[in-house]
Amino acid sequence: MTMELPKGFEFGVAMASYQVEGAVEEDGRGPSIWDTFSHTPGKVFADQNGDVACDHYHRYAEDIDLMAALGIDSYRLSMAWPRIQPTGKGPANAAGLAFYDRLVDGLLERGIKPAITLYHWDLPQPLEDAGGWRVRDTAERFAEYAAIAHEHLSDRVTRWITLNEPYCSAILGYATGRHAPGAHEGEGALAAAHHLLLAHGLAARAMRSNGAAGQQIGVTLNLEPVAAVSNSPEDLAAADRALMLSNRIFTDPVLAGTYPELARRTYADITDFSFIEDGDLETIAVPLDFLGVNYYFPSNVRVGEYAEPDPAKRTADDLATEQVVDDDEERTAMGWPVDSDGLRRLLRWLHESYPSLPPIYVTENGRACDDVVEETGHVHDPDRMRYLEAHLRAIAAASGQGVDVRGYYCWSLLDNFEWAEGYAKRFGLVYVDYETQQRIPKSSFEWYQRVIAEHREAT
Ligand code: NOJ
Repeated sequence: MTMELPKGFEFGVAMASYQVEGAVEEDGRGPSIWDTFSHTPGKVFADQNGDVACDHYHRYAEDIDLMAALGIDSYRLSMAWPRIQPTGKGPANAAGLAFYDRLVDGLLERGIKPAITLYHWDLPQPLEDAGGWRVRDTAERFAEYAAIAHEHLSDRVTRWITLNEPYCSAILGYATGRHAPGAHEGEGALAAAHHLLLAHGLAARAMRSNGAAGQQIGVTLNLEPVAAVSNSPEDLAAADRALMLSNRIFTDPVLAGTYPELARRTYADITDFSFIEDGDLETIAVPLDFLGVNYYFPSNVRVGEYAEPDPAKRTADDLATEQVVDDDEERTAMGWPVDSDGLRRLLRWLHESYPSLPPIYVTENGRACDDVVEETGHVHDPDRMRYLEAHLRAIAAASGQGVDVRGYYCWSLLDNFEWAEGYAKRFGLVYVDYETQQRIPKSSFEWYQRVIAEHREAT
């Protein structure tokens, strides 16, 4: 299968610390909000948690072998802040850093370029106890942690992602309560979004100031192409609000140094925005070397009823919009609609909306399937192969339409802890038998291996 992907296009896979590492009490790691949340009954499917996960902390060498067999150019991993600073502040924990040394060195030995995400949702619990992302101090603490990690590894790691999906940290964490820390707040969630963005800007600045050579610094946002299902003024207005919340309150400040006026109007009865201080937007708009984009599904909306009738109790998520999914549309095991052209539309939207858009890496894309091990021992996942192929073609199309996309990280190498869904949803190219920790490459693994090899031959 050949695709018109640009020369030098990189292929990778992505995973995240809490979802795969396990070993939550080893080598001085402190507790994170996900330890607390997953150990609170009723929060995660079947009350599962990341205590063991894929045991990647001990099995990383075997997992690097899988990556090498796949032939990827780059592996996107995340560092667990509570391994580096067990309480979220203070000196570095040498044993925690040593794990990432082993991992990074193992990757480099196999010719795989590490890309490190500094925050993939495992906030040290003591920082949450002090207010979490609702408070400004957490942003300052994050910049300190970023500086420690970067200083230690920037001799070997050149690609750094400050945050993964701040929308999820802020809105799922502090408004809907679906994710840790499980809060249901109005102002708190909007303050969290701002402090996450500030944390990104402060961390990027701290990393730049250490002067290491060849560094690429960016942030990963989960974004959606948004459309109204009709041309009625109500539906169009609902789509504008949905676009503002899912994309623009993150992309506008990062890429243009402003917050959408619509956010200020929409949330005027929730907050007075006094958490935004002079100079913050300038910090947040620090020039980036790339933007990481995670894409899973589009958002087609029509106007809906406010979930919370009392404006004083509304959170940022109680927008009067309703997501519409046609009954005949294909969905993944997560229930998410499949629309590969949505990725092309999203990339075009970014390209058209932001003149200062840096090059893009698609830092996550993939789907959950109801994978089973057949009697032959094989896991056959044609739906995943079709999904990945269609999305790679969408990137090729966007690139043909002028969008500068430089790489693609498939989510994920291994099946892993899918947050509130626990281990029930499988996204991996490799099946994990959680009883034995056996890794079984699925047919999509062999397919991705071929795609990478063919692309290399063709360019
Ligand atoms: C987004 C997140 O970054 C990742 O942690 C998650 O597992 C995947 N998407 C799939 O939901």
